[in-house]
Amino acid sequence: MNVYVAPAEMRTAVLSARTGNRTVGFVPTMGALHAGHLSLVDAARAECDVVAASIFVNPTQFAPHEDLDAYPRPLERDLQLLQEHGCDLVFTPSAEMMYPAGAETSIDVGAVALPWEGAERPTHFAGVATVVMKLFQIAPATHAYFGHKDYQQTLVVRRMVADLNVPIEIRVCPIVRDDNGLALSSRNAYLSPDERQQALALSQALRLAEQAHASGQRSAAALRQIIRDHLAAAGLSPDYVAIVADGTVQEVEHIGGPVVAALAVRVGQTRLIDNCRIG
Ligand code: PAF
Repeated sequence: MNVYVAPAEMRTAVLSARTGNRTVGFVPTMGALHAGHLSLVDAARAECDVVAASIFVNPTQFAPHEDLDAYPRPLERDLQLLQEHGCDLVFTPSAEMMYPAGAETSIDVGAVALPWEGAERPTHFAGVATVVMKLFQIAPATHAYFGHKDYQQTLVVRRMVADLNVPIEIRVCPIVRDDNGLALSSRNAYLSPDERQQALALSQALRLAEQAHASGQRSAAALRQIIRDHLAAAGLSPDYVAIVADGTVQEVEHIGGPVVAALAVRVGQTRLIDNCRIG
């Protein structure tokens, strides 16, 4: 596994990996890798000739009140895990290399970035879209892998790739959960044992909504209420609970096709998101 710090060197390595029509699968991450990230590496390994990843804690997607410095950075462990999962090329730049003095360009993907996470953290998705676009230039792969847990982020990336004609296939992989159903997230590390227990209500609430749908319930308002009631019973009050047409952030009232139930909940000081596809 080769590790690159300089953008130009990573780009040369990816371009040379693509010779002879070989495919390169790219997994952008902020490090602190867990089984969710590694499932993306595994998917890239299964589908592509060469696997590339990046580890970069992107400052521009953090809000001023979020503690960028406290974000975990276990670089050696992350590199070890990437190697064990068959990654070939890793990009680990510094913030100065990604954002040299004078950098000002930012990507606004429009409406898809406005609700939910965008409402809570107004500059977040411009930061995500801009860094992902930069990473796609530095690592011009054939495929890129993202997790469904960050459902809105996947819509932002797809919008940007379509609108800016970026020649890359976006793959979205299923959420990875622990044995109790908690969606894996780097933020779970901030939960106390009690909060971790309380956080199980998120996936339980989504499962109850799924079951109600399977029993014939087609009212989105009823599913939202089932989710809210379960969260309330666990002492949690959500930032949002939404039932949207799959692939969009458009709320539906009657469920006539595949939808996504998405929610964000603060458990203690930690804001968690989760979602599931229904129907
Ligand atoms: O999902 C993440 O870890 C980040 O938002 C990403 C896509 C690596 C951009 O910094």
